[in-house]
Amino acid sequence: MSKKLVSMTINGKKVEEAVEPRTLLIHFLRENLNLTGAHIGCETSHCGACTVDIDGKSVKSCTHLAVQCEGADILTVEGLAKNGVLSAVQEGFHQEHGLQCGFCTPGMLVRSYRLLQENPNPTEAEIRAGISGNLCRCTGYQNIVKAVQYAAKKLQETAQA
Ligand code: FES
Ligand code: FES
Repeated sequence: MSKKLVSMTINGKKVEEAVEPRTLLIHFLRENLNLTGAHIGCETSHCGACTVDIDGKSVKSCTHLAVQCEGADILTVEGLAKNGVLSAVQEGFHQEHGLQCGFCTPGMLVRSYRLLQENPNPTEAEIRAGISGNLCRCTGYQNIVKAVQYAAKKLQETAQA
C-alpha cells in the first residue's frame, strides 16, 4: 500500500513520517515513534487506555488514523512531565496511589490533565463523569478520584503562588 507523508507536533516536537493510510494513531505512536506510553486495550474505543490529547481534546487514539492528524498538536503521557518534574496529575497519582497494575494509567493521566484544563475545580461527581470513558479494572476508582483532587488543589496553589 502506498504511504502518505504526515506531519504533526507531538509533545512539542515536529514529526514528519510516511505512513500507510490505514495506520491507526496508536500504532503510529507506538511502532513508528516508539512512544509506548499510550496502551492498546480494546481497540474498539471502550477502554481509554490509548487516550491522548489532540488539539486540546481527549481522544482515543485507536479511533483515529495517523493521516487524520495532519497538522495536529498532540500530547501523549510522555509529554506531561517537564524538565524531569512530574506534572500535577502525575504527582497526584503517585501521592494518592491512583493505580495498581498501571495499565489504564497513561490514559487516565492524559484524560485527567485535560479534565483539569476544562474544569480546574471539579466536584467528585464531575471527576467521575470526566474519567468515565477510561476504564480501570483494579482500583475501584476511589484513589484515582483522590489523585485528580490532589492535582486540582496543587494546580490552584501553584496558580496562586
Ligand atoms: S484501546 Fe483505544 S479505547 Fe481501548
Ligand atoms: S490500575 Fe490496573 S487497570 Fe487501572
